[in-house]
Amino acid sequence: MGTKIDIAPSILSSDFSQLAVEIKKVESAGADILHLDIMDGHFVPNITIGPPVVASIRKCTRMMLDVHLMIEQPGKFIKDFVHAGADWISVHVEADMHLDRTLNFLKEKGVHAGVALNPATPVATLDEVLHMLDYILIMTVNPGFGGQKFIQSTLKKIRKLKDLKESGDYSGRIEVDGGIDSGNLPEILDAGADMIVAGSAIFGRESVSEAFLEMKKIAEQSVEIPESA
Ligand code: DX5
Ligand code: ZN
Repeated sequence: MGTKIDIAPSILSSDFSQLAVEIKKVESAGADILHLDIMDGHFVPNITIGPPVVASIRKCTRMMLDVHLMIEQPGKFIKDFVHAGADWISVHVEADMHLDRTLNFLKEKGVHAGVALNPATPVATLDEVLHMLDYILIMTVNPGFGGQKFIQSTLKKIRKLKDLKESGDYSGRIEVDGGIDSGNLPEILDAGADMIVAGSAIFGRESVSEAFLEMKKIAEQSVEIPESA
């Protein structure tokens, strides 16, 4: 079983005027994946960064870049994010009319292909593409902003994905995003998540590296628990 658990800090809650410095803090603490939130003001009621900023970030870190596209018609823009240096790209199933085409494009380009689900969107919407997915991003808040409260009912969806993995119907990773901190991390890991996005719980803290390491430690301890326990 793939038991590696990644904590992926989201720069959304960082100080954008000090982006390179903020990114170094989590890289030196040991993060392997950096989560970048792309918002277009249409799919979600907020606007963040686009491909040029992703390309600049690419130059200042060796971490893998996990690009979460909260944009309408993602198929129109994914090539720009691939060129900008994204290693992982997720599009929202609610926003993409041509999901099969998008996923094929990402796979052709050698980028990890993912689909994100809003809290109200069922896992079943992915039945026909499960075999193509490197990861599924379960939104555990309604997308658009950092610092929101974790929606408890999303745990059921995480467990559903874990069941699909156990039955062999899905072999990708389970990413979760929104409202996660070291307090609720254990139950989220227990439900089956293995890529944990955290924004305010890391960049909102005085010591960014301590906050990252605290979550990393909880993740490592959860892996040590034998499966029969
Ligand atoms: C929200 C974004 C998240 C956000 C999470 O729409 O997709 O990645 O940064 O922030 P926290 O961890 O503060 O909920
Ligand atoms: Zn995100």
